[in-house]
Amino acid sequence: MYSKSLKYHCLSIYNHSVRVAQMAEELARKYNGEPEAAYQAGLLHDISGIIPNHQRIEFARSIGIPILPEECLFPMIIHQKLSKYIADEVFMVTNPNVLSAIECHTTLKSRASLLDYLLFVADKIEWDQKGVPPYINSVFTSFDQSLEKAAFAYIHYLM
Ligand SMILES: [Fe+2]
Ligand SMILES: [Fe+2]
Repeated sequence: MYSKSLKYHCLSIYNHSVRVAQMAEELARKYNGEPEAAYQAGLLHDISGIIPNHQRIEFARSIGIPILPEECLFPMIIHQKLSKYIADEVFMVTNPNVLSAIECHTTLKSRASLLDYLLFVADKIEWDQKGVPPYINSVFTSFDQSLEKAAFAYIHYLM
């Protein structure tokens, strides 16, 4: 993972991914999840960042991934599906829960699993921008109620 990040000049993605993996592992312990699976999902969730944004739709088509109209309009979000593909095909991840969490870490999905939520929230806490996320206080406050509320606090901020 580290050598691939260096090869593709994506050290910032690597650093973000390690932080997300550690946070996902910590949250998994807090919410009785699977720490090892959470760590693995965190490490690989943004691995498709090695593919430039403008090439993602074309790459997705070339490997037969169905593309939604929203993904055509905003290609950044398809990176979750591409990361799942790479985790599966290149890193040989076999745990379907890990692959599911990677595949929906940007958008979540209906009937999300505990691991889906863990990775989604960890990714938002350890975001890939500079400084402190503007929604962080409401996410942390919502933890007292539930992991789902913490996820919603971020979505509410976006809305
Ligand atoms: Fe991502
Ligand atoms: Fe991320």
